[in-house]
Amino acid sequence: MTVSELAIRGGRPLRGRVDVKGAKNLATKAMVATLLGETPSTLRDVPDLSDVAVVRSLLEVHGVRVEAGDEPGALTFDPSGVESAHMEEIDAHAGASRIPILFCGPLLHRLGQAFIPDLGGCRIGDRPIDFHLDALRKFGAVVEKLPSGIRLSAPEGLRGASIHLPYPSVGATEQVLLTAVRAKGTTELRNAAIEPEIMDLIAVLQKMGAIISYEPNRVIFIEGVDTLRGYDHRSIFDRNEAASWASAALATDGEIFVGGARQQEMLTFLNVFRKAGGWFDIQEDGILFRRDGELKPVVVETDVHPGFMTDWQQPLVVALTQAKGRSIVHETVYENRMGFTDALVKMGADIVVHPHGLQDGPRRVARRELEQAAVITGPTPLHGADIVVPDLRGGYSHVIAALTAQGESRVSGVDILSRGYEKFLDKLTALGADFDVIR
Ligand code: UD1
Repeated sequence: MTVSELAIRGGRPLRGRVDVKGAKNLATKAMVATLLGETPSTLRDVPDLSDVAVVRSLLEVHGVRVEAGDEPGALTFDPSGVESAHMEEIDAHAGASRIPILFCGPLLHRLGQAFIPDLGGCRIGDRPIDFHLDALRKFGAVVEKLPSGIRLSAPEGLRGASIHLPYPSVGATEQVLLTAVRAKGTTELRNAAIEPEIMDLIAVLQKMGAIISYEPNRVIFIEGVDTLRGYDHRSIFDRNEAASWASAALATDGEIFVGGARQQEMLTFLNVFRKAGGWFDIQEDGILFRRDGELKPVVVETDVHPGFMTDWQQPLVVALTQAKGRSIVHETVYENRMGFTDALVKMGADIVVHPHGLQDGPRRVARRELEQAAVITGPTPLHGADIVVPDLRGGYSHVIAALTAQGESRVSGVDILSRGYEKFLDKLTALGADFDVIR
């Protein structure tokens, strides 16, 4: 059953343990990579999320046999029967996910054609796919735009290309990797994204037989090979989910042990967490998070890796409403990722969003046209309210705000959370949250 609305009674610290599994942002891409192999692949620690279900069914409509693996959370993918799927079938399975765009390169290699339906994903800006399409054209793909989506073909096969991304987009970097590994010749990718999940995808592709090297300054070289085999890989942990629970501990003045969280991939988050008044203890099998006295205001700008990830800001903003003083969060990755703050203001927070950013002097990264800034002044007690979840991370922050607030909140649209948080309600229960499922 899908739960869409919760009644949450807040004011009680979240305490206990949650375990994070494989990263959504790796697992879904590694699943697409199975299309490139001649033999079956096994992915371990696959999270049970709706985005994973979408990719699984899209693989299945393309003839990949997906089965449970030899341990809980493992899936095997047999691509020996890969075949073209009907447009209607692809459309019906693509759902709200943006991952289908990554099927392009692998399907072009396997079948010489691909169809990509109109893409969904979180409503956090236009989220265009121009970098993807420009890169695919450079590999020799012919792109045809239809009312229902995009049809691609590669009449002469795909060949290595020299690509310079206008911005280090995660998805476009993955697109290039998944296409270049089997293209003829060498691909040089400049201004690539280097998120840990991308490095893990490179590890997956290397296990499959790909030859990929990287240099400083975001340059990746991919030497195309004729065939690739299947892989056996354990996914990197979900650092976005880990950061979410860390901020929940901070906001509710609780104490949460996040099993599976690792320090290396979270260095930037941990620095900000500490500056905001958080305390953490790095342990062998996870990280323990809580407050270290009063919360303090911070100035943060989201950025591509190794910067502060855009998916980390929303839950942190909830905690910052409880810090003494003025915090600023500059959002530089997306043009519209502050909409979630409306609900926090309704609950009593003092947050002013500057849609075109703050003209406050030079910063470490060049200003992007897209920039938005939120100024958060605290501490402000939060009170319960009726709120509607706008997107994945914004929705998480709404639930955490409701748990921080005094009184009862009605939070609707919580089904979106299943895109990025596995067993979300079970985890809330394990942490002692007081809520009822309304619908
Ligand atoms: C991925 C992550 C998401 C994260 C984001 C940034 C997955 C499933 N999702 O999303 O959690 O927030 O990286 O770290 O891995 N852009 C263009 N044209 C394009 C592609 C992107 O202009 O063709 C712009 C986007 O609008 C956005 C920026 O580039 O402003 C970054 O997007 P991108 O890095 O591609 O994000 P995703 O891969 O969609």
